[in-house]
Amino acid sequence: MAGDLERAKAAAARFAVERRVRPGQRIALGTGSTTAYAVRALVTRFPDGGFDCVASSEATAELARSLDLAVRPLTGDDRFDLMLDGADEVSPALDLTKGGGGALFREKLLARLSAELVILVDPTKLVRALGERHRIPVEVVPFARPVVERAVMRLRFRPHLRTRPDGRPFRTDNGNEVLDLAPAAPLEDPTSDERALREIPGVVESGLFVGLAHRVLVGRPDGGVEERTRPAPSASAP
Ligand code: A5P
Repeated sequence: MAGDLERAKAAAARFAVERRVRPGQRIALGTGSTTAYAVRALVTRFPDGGFDCVASSEATAELARSLDLAVRPLTGDDRFDLMLDGADEVSPALDLTKGGGGALFREKLLARLSAELVILVDPTKLVRALGERHRIPVEVVPFARPVVERAVMRLRFRPHLRTRPDGRPFRTDNGNEVLDLAPAAPLEDPTSDERALREIPGVVESGLFVGLAHRVLVGRPDGGVEERTRPAPSASAP
């Protein structure tokens, strides 16, 4: 039920803000409906702000500003204490499929600059293997799209160009297109798939987030939250 899903997302977002956020932190904001709950929870819990925030999309930046939460552009030496973001799929190893909202490149860049990536999901996002329920998005330079389509087919992915409601190609905030890749079967080795996809000329980034999430918060409709963690290595430059 849609209401159940929304309650689950809101529960994960509230938990994240209550348990992981401290005033004064440098925070990277992800994209999507669950992240939007986190942005609202942040403003509700800390009405005086005091955060240093960078957003992974124009949509999130707009939402934050509409709530009087300041966001600023990325700088060359930025590092974040925390990133709050959603996901389309979460595997038992806490690997992720992301990019349903098309913000995968900026999300992955900010995730790599963050000491802790906290992922907020409802239970429908939990899968046994990535690619089980969601196609794998890749951001692609439009000029190179035919080359990328052919290359991903050799890797046994079927590419689907993401389109807008008017039928024209969807464009990311970076001006690129998105191919949603249907795998022949759920991914057994997302690390090698991610590497293979990124090696294709014209692929800007893939929506496979392998080894990046430190903590996954799974909200439930009753307000409960299950926390899954892996040890956090320190943030490093991309
Ligand atoms: C945005 O590009 C995505 O990575 C989102 O984080 C992901 O699609 C999850 O979105 P929802 O929280 O809306 O399900």
